Amino acid sequence: MMTTDAVIFDLDGVLTDTAELHFIAWQAIANKLNITFDKEDNEKLKGVDRENSLKYILAKGNLAVGTAKFEQLLKEKNDQYLTLINEVNPSHLFDGVLSCFAALKKSNVKIGLASASKNASLVISKLGIEHLFDFIGDAASVANSKPAPDIFLSVAHGLNVLPKNCIGVEDAVAGVRAIKSANMFAVGIGDNQILTQADLVFPSMSEFDFNQVETAFLLSAT
Ligand code: BG6
Ligand code: MG
Repeated sequence: MMTTDAVIFDLDGVLTDTAELHFIAWQAIANKLNITFDKEDNEKLKGVDRENSLKYILAKGNLAVGTAKFEQLLKEKNDQYLTLINEVNPSHLFDGVLSCFAALKKSNVKIGLASASKNASLVISKLGIEHLFDFIGDAASVANSKPAPDIFLSVAHGLNVLPKNCIGVEDAVAGVRAIKSANMFAVGIGDNQILTQADLVFPSMSEFDFNQVETAFLLSAT
């Protein structure tokens, strides 16, 4: 029998608008390299880890760089991102997140975090919500990044629940694929024309309705 044991959230673009800050930082790198990088490119990079994001940008510009330059570009991007997130505070939490977490706690559903970002713990603490998580995944410790299922599976393991009893929440195409590969129910946050593999999509977290999610989740098993 299926039960709703945990909801596992992505961070960037689901709990706060850091997806936009990653975009600004990558666009600065791309501009410097004379490579065009627009919102459509960014959509493909949502959920994708730092190294693979840079590889995508370089491939788009047909540019090959040595290891030292590659590392330097990664550092530059991250330094700018760190400057941008320095401003993050609890007011940047998306509307609907706290009430959603409260509804989960009331129903005894565990809360996990499965972010591809190595800066996730820092952002979560700046948002002032670290105490609300039962388990926070570590992007640096998994072998394969999204769209591979690894981070979602490691969080399910950390929460001591079965993947099939978990619901994942994502704003990225790569993230939704990771959730589905982990054999979990996928809730997309954003555009249902883009997040086509999600089982259910809400335009934003303020529309996230746990009762609706749970009903659709339990029905999906029948
Ligand atoms: C994901 C973002 O959550 O984290 C990506 O959607 C980002 O845009 C990735 O590249 C890695 O983040 P970081 O902070 O480790 O560079
Ligand atoms: Mg995201």
